[in-house]
Amino acid sequence: MKLQGPRGTRDFYPKECAWQNFLLEAWRKVSVRNGFEEVDGPFFESLDLYKIKSGEGIVNELFHFEDRGGRELAIRPEFTPTLARMVASKANSLQKPIKWFCVPNLCRAERPQRGRLREFLQWNCDLIGVDGAMADAECIFTLVDLLRELGLEPQHVRVKISHRQTVRTILTKLGVAEDKLLTAFDLLDRRDKMDADAFTKAASELGMAPEQVERFEQICRFRYPCGSLAQMCEQTGLDSLHELEELDAQLQAFGIADWCEYDLGIVRGLAYYTGTVFELHETSGAMRAMAGGGRYDKLIELFGGPSMGAVGFGMGDVVLSEVLADKGLMPQDVSPRPDVFIVATSDASATQVPMLTASLREQGLHARFSYKTTRNLGKLLKDAANARSRFVVILDDDTPNGQVQVKDLQTSEQQTVAIESLASHVALA
Ligand code: HAM
Repeated sequence: MKLQGPRGTRDFYPKECAWQNFLLEAWRKVSVRNGFEEVDGPFFESLDLYKIKSGEGIVNELFHFEDRGGRELAIRPEFTPTLARMVASKANSLQKPIKWFCVPNLCRAERPQRGRLREFLQWNCDLIGVDGAMADAECIFTLVDLLRELGLEPQHVRVKISHRQTVRTILTKLGVAEDKLLTAFDLLDRRDKMDADAFTKAASELGMAPEQVERFEQICRFRYPCGSLAQMCEQTGLDSLHELEELDAQLQAFGIADWCEYDLGIVRGLAYYTGTVFELHETSGAMRAMAGGGRYDKLIELFGGPSMGAVGFGMGDVVLSEVLADKGLMPQDVSPRPDVFIVATSDASATQVPMLTASLREQGLHARFSYKTTRNLGKLLKDAANARSRFVVILDDDTPNGQVQVKDLQTSEQQTVAIESLASHVALA
């Protein structure tokens, strides 16, 4: 019987694990240089934590269960509620501003499809305790910093920015009542996944007539580069865009204007966002969002903490990996390479293998050896090359005692080296 992993999950063989470690390292490196400290929380939480403010989309996709005491629990589908709970419970003792990052694995019972799985990794960066556009722009800068670190360029990807207040004003003008705005945000977030009739029907239930839906669709098709808010006012018929002005200036000051554009079609499905919202998309638009975030100024208070401004984002590993592969930016050899691969061509010389391996490992080298002994050196060298080792150490009967043959697999140069200076020979090369 052949057993398969659950739908929407992945097995991580060494190659996939090495790739994931490569991404984790990039995420950690960029987080640290942008001033974020690493945190984490539990893999499951009380179901209620997600019912408070994540919004219907996420609640419908929860993996939830009861423990033996009848408590309702859910596997984390996102990190933001845990972060808000952690900040709320220690708000007074935490040094402000709070800049935290984490890289949790999350589970959502989504229909598995390209770019969306049921278990994935998500890099989160959140900045808490600072109001104002400078913090929003710094979060977006951190995201862009990661993209640059991985070799992406502005022509590959775009940070699409919008503001809930701006979208709110437009929707109100189009006839959506205040108490239906959150449902409208959720609906608009899902509009690409719905067929046109179902969308028009749902929009009309929110008070939008078909021509108003069409007008909204038209507004959503406009794109504005940084520095063009006046044009946006004109085309959308809004009196002002004061909520975006400071952000616009900050994005330019951080030097990331060419990575960003305004797109009022970005509303975000999660219910807790209060201001700036943004998503990262591959420029062709063919793939699902690579990252999403925004300002959520009320969540920490809602979780019993003080009133604190907060902004952050989450980026999954799935679409990011697809985009990097698509652009030829996925490094091929991210698995750790051995420094040395020890081989023996005779039974007598093979007796030295364990001691030599142990000694090199003690000296901090990544040392592997062949489990075979054969006179066929070519075969052994092939094994060393397959392991991607930098050097092969050859133990044979011809080399004088206390010395070994060392072959550099890149240059094919071979030298006789004293065993006691082997580690420094390899380390210096
Ligand atoms: P989100 O938009 O639900 O936001 O997810 C952010 C990113 O996580 C997505 O853009 C995508 O890269 C990845 N992602 C989401 N669902 C899946 C899935 N089923 N499979 C693969 N990747 C997925 C949030 O989660 C917010 N809590 C982010 C945030 C942090 N906002 C403020 N701070």
